[in-house]
Amino acid sequence: MLIREAVAEDWPRIWPFWHRIVAAAETYAWDSDTSEEAARALWMAPAKTVYVVEDETGAVVASAYLTPNYGGPASRIANAGFMVDPDHAGRGIGRALAEHLLAAAEAAGYEGMVFNAVVETNPAVKLWTSLGFTILGTVPEAYDHPRHGRVGLHIMYKAL
Ligand SMILES: CC(C)(COP(=O)(O)OP(=O)(O)OC[C@H]1O[C@@H](n2cnc3c(N)ncnc32)[C@H](O)[C@@H]1OP(=O)(O)O)[C@@H](O)C(=O)NCCC(=O)NCCS
Repeated sequence: MLIREAVAEDWPRIWPFWHRIVAAAETYAWDSDTSEEAARALWMAPAKTVYVVEDETGAVVASAYLTPNYGGPASRIANAGFMVDPDHAGRGIGRALAEHLLAAAEAAGYEGMVFNAVVETNPAVKLWTSLGFTILGTVPEAYDHPRHGRVGLHIMYKAL
């Protein structure tokens, strides 16, 4: 597994699993019918440092971004987003990518990382907690989940 910074040419290899994850509408607060162009603008925004994971065949199997969560005097707090191709989930890629981004964030001088909207039913909550994130609070019934109905959105934080 190789974790590297993404280049613009990686986008067509990110889009298929990006679309599949957002269309499922279980984990991200983005419209499930987000167009490819809008998705590219969201994920590959200039303020974001984007990473990809290549498997041993060179296929892109995951992506993540690192960006300031706020601006100006609060720019030392990072935000990040993670997507592992569902066909490659559960093999440790998400954990390795998260550890890589936490190290990159720390090296870049960030002093904390915040996740603004973690769907409370997402198994990722367990992953983030195991990496040292705590739940600062929960916006109740904010997310309309296709299987669980109205569920909360956690704001999660880790000091770096
Ligand atoms: C969340 C996500 C990034 C995790 O990546 P992954 O490669 O599947 O996770 P890993 O294989 O590294 O597993 C990490 C831990 O999370 C747990 N986990 C991850 N996905 C899980 C699932 N669907 N069900 C149960 N546990 C799960 C595992 O138990 C594992 O714990 P362990 O390391 O102690 O064994 C990935 O599933 C994903 O992209 N999901 C859709 C998008 C998303 O939810 N992004 C995060 C938004 S907050």
